Amino acid sequence: MKCKICKATAVVALRSHHTGFCADCFLKFFSRQVAKGIESQGLFTHSDRILVALSGGKDSLALALELSRQGYDVTGLHIDLDIPGSSPAARAVVSAFCAKHGIPLIIKSMAEEGMPIPLVKARLNRPICSACGKIKRYWFNKTALDMGFTALATGHNLDDEVARLFSNTIRWDAAYLSDQGPLLEGEDGFARKVKPLWRLTEFETANYAFLMGINHHIDPCPYSGGATFSIHKQLWQELEAAMPGRKIDFYQGFLERGRPAFARRDAEAGLPVRPCTACGYPTASGGLCGVCRIREALRQPEA
Ligand code: AMP
Ligand code: FES
Ligand code: ZN
Repeated sequence: MKCKICKATAVVALRSHHTGFCADCFLKFFSRQVAKGIESQGLFTHSDRILVALSGGKDSLALALELSRQGYDVTGLHIDLDIPGSSPAARAVVSAFCAKHGIPLIIKSMAEEGMPIPLVKARLNRPICSACGKIKRYWFNKTALDMGFTALATGHNLDDEVARLFSNTIRWDAAYLSDQGPLLEGEDGFARKVKPLWRLTEFETANYAFLMGINHHIDPCPYSGGATFSIHKQLWQELEAAMPGRKIDFYQGFLERGRPAFARRDAEAGLPVRPCTACGYPTASGGLCGVCRIREALRQPEA
């Protein structure tokens, strides 16, 4: 196969775009898709201060590198979960990446905050992934607001977004369907959240990471069992293979026509949020926020 643009030998075949690219032309294609994703949805501009949540995985590292190459003001944030056998390697990968590319990095250590994930897992009587997700989102938001960042970016790609949308759709979860998307405006103590890789598949970010020589953290979280999302992702891979282009059509169609149909009227909007009585984080509970409740549970003597 030849590169669609320059006719050199193609190294990346993109069936959804019915085409192939050589390395240079693929990198330009990737940059254009990121730029289009940012501009078409008004995610941010060059005057924003962007905090990029870096897990050490290929998507978030690819995102930080590409935004920095496009001249955006980028700082990394890594949440060190303190999971033995996994977190030290992820932290080392993120630190080396930021040092290599001159990207400032903030590290929040859950051990230092008194909530290492293995301890949370041992104390909570529910699946750790949802509590861990809550803890990560709390520190993303708090760090962004406390340190004056104007946008918080995560490395979610098109496959992540389509899997989530599909899961929300098969449950007809109207609340999630009303505000899922690459942009969640900041409000009531919540930072503006953006997902600039929403137009790019996991395959495309993997190719970008490979061609740009990004050394990333590969081991999956030792606590994540067969997540439902991976079943959905697999179904979508099959659909995409049979009908190239379906993923982006489904997601873009949702943004243009599906989401407006689910937009909440003010009267139906969620419960009013108030500051957590311990830490000030917005919460609908009227008392402690979810993370302070986890902190409380950790303080109780072991049963
Ligand atoms: P995941 O839910 O693990 O697929 O991660 C989705 C996105 O959340 C990643 O692309 C990162 O931007 C961010 N993220 C996940 N884990 C961490 C972490 N430990 N520290 C910083 N950002 C993270
Ligand atoms: Fe949080 Fe696995 S990453 S439980
Ligand atoms: Zn709190």
